[in-house]
Amino acid sequence: MKRIEIKTLLKNAAIGAEVNVKGWVRTKRASKNVAFIALNDGSTIHNIQIVVDTALSDAENLPKVTTGAAISVNGVVVASQGSNQNIEVVAKTLEVLGEAHPDEYPLQPKKHSLEFLREIAHLRFRSNTFGAITRIRHSMIFAVHQYFTQNGFFNIHTPIITGSDAEGAGEMFQITTLDVNNMPKTEDGNIDYSKDFFGKETNLTVSGQLEVETAMLGMSKVYTFGPTFRAENSNTTRHLAEFWMIEPEVAFNDIVDNMDLAEDFLKYLIQYALDNNMDDLLFLSNRQLEEEKGKPEAQRTMELIEKLKFVLENEFARVTYTEAIEILINSKTNKKKKFQYIIEEWGIDLQSEHERYLVEKHFQKPVILVDYPASIKAFYMKQSEDGKTVRAMDVLFPQIGEIIGGSQREENYEKLKSKINQLEIPEEDLWWYLDTRKFGSVIHSGFGLGFERLMLFVTGMGNIRDVIPFPRTPQNAEF
Ligand code: 4AD
Ligand code: MG
Repeated sequence: MKRIEIKTLLKNAAIGAEVNVKGWVRTKRASKNVAFIALNDGSTIHNIQIVVDTALSDAENLPKVTTGAAISVNGVVVASQGSNQNIEVVAKTLEVLGEAHPDEYPLQPKKHSLEFLREIAHLRFRSNTFGAITRIRHSMIFAVHQYFTQNGFFNIHTPIITGSDAEGAGEMFQITTLDVNNMPKTEDGNIDYSKDFFGKETNLTVSGQLEVETAMLGMSKVYTFGPTFRAENSNTTRHLAEFWMIEPEVAFNDIVDNMDLAEDFLKYLIQYALDNNMDDLLFLSNRQLEEEKGKPEAQRTMELIEKLKFVLENEFARVTYTEAIEILINSKTNKKKKFQYIIEEWGIDLQSEHERYLVEKHFQKPVILVDYPASIKAFYMKQSEDGKTVRAMDVLFPQIGEIIGGSQREENYEKLKSKINQLEIPEEDLWWYLDTRKFGSVIHSGFGLGFERLMLFVTGMGNIRDVIPFPRTPQNAEF
């Protein structure tokens, strides 16, 4: 018999239908005459209940039907007598496909901490929480491509191995096939990278932006969605060393068009989750309510689904960096020195505590900050007339802080070149990027959405390690 997925079974199967289901046992309850198995196959948060009459000859397999075991059941769909589900499957045959020895299987049916689940990342796909996150993650990946397809964008696969540092922050993982214990040297004692695989120094990309910009000058609307790597030693709940980034780049768009695109895109993704992932969102919402039960009112966050709708219903505030600094300097929190980093003057980089103050306390909705000091932003950003700021924008979200970073780009060859020289960025690494400003240069803008930051927001999870299957963080590359 052909297997039916549990999601389809719960939605479509008619009473009396004969079906085959396969999956992993979540729980088993047995009495003298009958056993109930809760079975899950990952297609949905919901389990199908399997009823096994102990008089059935295959009931001899029941001792091996333990939590985590894989089984296959042929049976008949019946209306359920229990209150938790509408239908269940009465087994005719019961086969154990793969045992999960109960003495060893770590994922027993009880509440596990998220920390513990991280330690068994190879098994956590079988937990309700990580199953829900995995389905939402897939849904968001799909929605990203759908949004851009519907809006006339082309997906560009930008390289993962590069010779440049797009963000200029020097936080790169180097790539080499040289023997690190015996590096070839040049006459003046430096490492001879001409002997390396690519004949030059290379690293894992921190962003696909520079390459995707070249595609934009020809294709008009493009985006890249790939893994990016940052060797920043940030052990926070919002940083990964390996994360996925979505970077659209649009010809003829200025910074205002860029803000419009960012807001529309984020709202589309959130709406998509509400339209397609409600079962999983409800599960995560309940989970969050449970977690926060004991906490004082002030520390509780807005209920997940309400929070998602709230973002859809409100226009993002658009504020300049200069205005934001004014607000922060004059805030009680700053005056009473309650920020870890006190704001004293224009020009400093904002910390996530400041971003969250603006979003959660002051504006109480998402905020797009624009026109940052040039000195704290990357070399490629459009220089403003005032000589001090650049046309940069960060989108700030509740609980997350920065979810998007972007800008209008400097399209003027002379200005870009002098900035590159001023920052002492080797021109030979970026000759091709500079070339784009020589041949048919146009104003253009783009941004990067951190995919896992989006996932944090949509799932309401508190730690970025819990929204990516195999997190890479300082001192951790297990699995
Ligand atoms: O602000 P960032 O560094 O911008 C860029 O890389 C630009 N090249 C993007 C562009 O304009 N095309 O990074 C963009 C976003 C951040 O807003 C954040 O959401 C996410 O990427 N991000 C991280 N996410 C997880 N872990 C990290 N270490 C991250 N660093 C940045
Ligand atoms: Mg940024």
